[in-house]
Amino acid sequence: MANKAKFQAIRGMRDFLPPETALWNRVEQTAHEVFGTFGFADIRTPILEATDLFARAVGDETDIVSKEMYSFPAVRPQKSLEELVGVVERAFQGGEIDNTPENQLRMAQFRNSVESLFSAAGGATAVVTSAPETQIRLVEIYRVVDEMQRYFSLRPEATASVCRAYIEHNMQQLPQPAKLYYMGPMFRRERPQKGRYRQFYQIGAEVLGGNDAPAIDAEVIEMVMTFFDKLELPGLQLDINSIGHNGPECRPKYVELLREELRKVKDHLGADSQRRIETNPLRVLDSKLESEQAIIAKLPHIADHLCDACKTHYAEVKKQLQLRGVIYRENWRLVRGLDYYMRTTFEITAKGLGSQNAVCGGGRYDGLVELLGGPPTKGIGFAIGEDRLILSLQDAGKGVVRQGRDVYIAWMGEHAYTAAVRTAKFLRHAGFSVELPPTELKFGKALERASKLDSRYALILGDNEVSEGFYTLKTLADGTQQKFTEPELLEFLQAS
Ligand code: HAM
Repeated sequence: MANKAKFQAIRGMRDFLPPETALWNRVEQTAHEVFGTFGFADIRTPILEATDLFARAVGDETDIVSKEMYSFPAVRPQKSLEELVGVVERAFQGGEIDNTPENQLRMAQFRNSVESLFSAAGGATAVVTSAPETQIRLVEIYRVVDEMQRYFSLRPEATASVCRAYIEHNMQQLPQPAKLYYMGPMFRRERPQKGRYRQFYQIGAEVLGGNDAPAIDAEVIEMVMTFFDKLELPGLQLDINSIGHNGPECRPKYVELLREELRKVKDHLGADSQRRIETNPLRVLDSKLESEQAIIAKLPHIADHLCDACKTHYAEVKKQLQLRGVIYRENWRLVRGLDYYMRTTFEITAKGLGSQNAVCGGGRYDGLVELLGGPPTKGIGFAIGEDRLILSLQDAGKGVVRQGRDVYIAWMGEHAYTAAVRTAKFLRHAGFSVELPPTELKFGKALERASKLDSRYALILGDNEVSEGFYTLKTLADGTQQKFTEPELLEFLQAS
């Protein structure tokens, strides 16, 4: 018998249903509006990108790239060698295996190995045997395939994609800086919990090109705060920091000092932090482990070890924020978990989210475009966690968006139905949401449905109304009724 087990959305991935989707739409609409007032335009990039893009941009050693990406090879193991040959040949024709001189050689090696295996086994079908000889040759064939093929990943974030697109489309030739924003799903295989999902949604913005004037940092932060204000999100906290740059007199010097200090207290730290002393000591500052807090509090602050240029930049960013009336808190421990940041970093936390309370993270990343093969380019941006933003709005009681209808047409009789269809058309054309029941209902039943759908008005249309040429409009909140001609009806609804 067929398996009739029900399907469920996979772990960490969710459906969004009405009425909640109306809130998502409102949030996204507000982003379009607010970002538009700051001169930003939207960009849409693919959800799937080359794995290497994220490895290089976000960093090989980061949690995101080393543990959390959904990645797969363009060519996967196949049930039979014949099928593998088909897939590899198609991938080569289709560009999933780059047509480079090295890959042409590898393809020749691949074809030879397959052929010799076929003839040794006495035909293609015989290759399915698990004879150790055959297995060794198969492993070798897969190694060649792996060397030449590409890996793809579902994007864990979009800054890398936007930079790739900036380079690919020569956007440095447009008026600079390019001010871009995006919204859409991102994927990270993290442990799901409240506010943390495997498919989650970001609304982000990036400023690429031009100069690195601190006014740009401040304006980007002002924009995201304006957006939150517009949504009336309460209890926000903006933290800022500067993590300097990669020059010898700046962050690397501080990182060495930090490492030395951490080595002195190593025995009092947990296993993760102990490991990070050598791999990435800055990340120790991120630690939430209770037992480490007193130790971390005594560590040297990066702000005291920045080079002069970074120090000046940071001071100017703070001044520019004050000029814009943006209230911030300096947080010397804010280092962020992606490799591309330099100088300004910031994070915004909101209420009602428990431990996953960061609703926005961002910072400056001059040099990232160059790292990805483009020209030297300044860059700064942020991404808002839309799922968390929605949770926080709901927690603050701002999550209800009216879903009801403006007008429910309660019709009875054949003539009334013809009039009802026409009326629905002109009211919808005028922008009202209208429910037109497809089959005749008794007036009592129709009014009951109208209330259930949270309609503001019921438009009563019986054959009487039609022959006399007027409409009866019932206000459902108080039960009052008024009579209108068609133009009067429209005028009344538009004014109400
Ligand atoms: P991020 O800090 O990794 O930065 O993510 C930004 C925001 O996305 C977080 O503050 C959080 O609200 C949300 N977020 C991250 N992971 C999850 C998850 N698993 N579930 C729900 N929400 C999540 C970036 O992604 C950078 N690209 C931001 C940026 C843009 N920096 C410069 N430009």
